[in-house]
Amino acid sequence: MKRNKNYLTGYLLTTLVLILLTACSTHSPKINNVKSDKYRLIWNDNPISTMTIAWNQYEGNPTVHYGLTEQTKQKTFPDRTTKYRGMHNNFARLQDLEANAKYYFKICTEKFCSKTMYFKTAPSDDKAFTFIAGGDSRSIPRGRIRGNVLVSKIRPLFIAHGGDYTKDGTTEEWNRWLNEWQQTISEDGRMYPLVLTHGNHENRDAHMLNKLFDVPNKDVYSKMDFNFLSLYTLNTELEPSVGYYDMVSKEKWNKYKRWDKQTKWLKETLETDTKPWKILSYHRPLRPHKKSKAEGRLRYLDWSPLFYKHGVQLAIECDSHLVKYTHPLKPDLFGEEGFVIDKEKGTTFIGEGSWGAPTRANDDEKSWTLDSGKFWQFKLIIASKDNLKIRTVKFGDEETEYNSNGVEALTQKEQDTNPRAIPENLDLWNSKVGKVLTLEN
Ligand SMILES: [Fe+2]
Repeated sequence: MKRNKNYLTGYLLTTLVLILLTACSTHSPKINNVKSDKYRLIWNDNPISTMTIAWNQYEGNPTVHYGLTEQTKQKTFPDRTTKYRGMHNNFARLQDLEANAKYYFKICTEKFCSKTMYFKTAPSDDKAFTFIAGGDSRSIPRGRIRGNVLVSKIRPLFIAHGGDYTKDGTTEEWNRWLNEWQQTISEDGRMYPLVLTHGNHENRDAHMLNKLFDVPNKDVYSKMDFNFLSLYTLNTELEPSVGYYDMVSKEKWNKYKRWDKQTKWLKETLETDTKPWKILSYHRPLRPHKKSKAEGRLRYLDWSPLFYKHGVQLAIECDSHLVKYTHPLKPDLFGEEGFVIDKEKGTTFIGEGSWGAPTRANDDEKSWTLDSGKFWQFKLIIASKDNLKIRTVKFGDEETEYNSNGVEALTQKEQDTNPRAIPENLDLWNSKVGKVLTLEN
């Protein structure tokens, strides 16, 4: 009798579980059942009115649902897909967005939707904003992830990545990198657009960033217009004799053509640029602060006079895996390595990329170096019409532990109230000028 009772109870419980499972599968939407992943946002066009959403689609015909509310009432479809590095990369180019607005989005197929995320467009007025500039995220994932988690806490308007995302740009490396990029998403679902620079570790395929991020100019140089600021991205790998792999093989046939075309574009674009702030991002420094790194012969000769003549205030460099600020500099062939300090009209150079790449000794300071160091870091810049406030955010190194999760995240409400707000307990580099380097306009 007791045995029969146990049997009956077991039978009833099993039936109940089966009924519940069936009910869930037929009536509830299968949210978060993985049919797409590796989400990323990219600014390839006007940051005030556009956004490119990219992801990896496993199966089904995806639709992007988006809009100004969580109901995401607008729909669009991928504008382009690429099969590349083991992924089916989908790109939806959203247009005609409102300025300084929150847009919610999710990727759905007939039965499945991703979680709902959101992004912000750039302001069309003089409202201040923060952005992160860093690069060289290759090789050591535990360092790279520390930086990614910090992005989620800081809530930058965008991230200017200076190149060398992975070591060799292989399928395995890019899949891992894009999975780890998901850790930049804030707790409330906010995601942040990348502005991409091509580094030498992308040289195995000259069009790597076009295929993975839909960067429209396959030579990866462009200008992005914010309301009071121009952000230029340049490609140092087009410089004859400095690249390798795919870039070198192409240069053999047309040695200076692509480099000269970029310089001509830079000159002509700067000549008509009337924005109060002109900032550049590119991979290899003109004058690396690492002895073993070759000097940028043509970068210096072709670019530095243009920077000075047209009032570029800030150049963000990467590649050496160390840290530096310079004084504002003017090109002068009698100065040390071709530069002298010019506090009125000079260009300040900051860098040099260490978002998880092996740190290197800062063994090549010049008389015009303001300060340098060796640790994992990126730059956090508060941009306003009157000034740029530059901070270097540290996240340890190979030997120094650092817990990014210990940083108290900025809330969206705090940022909406004060666009200059940053988290309070970041580990900031205390350089010779203190924790903030200010450039005044
Ligand atoms: Fe590099």
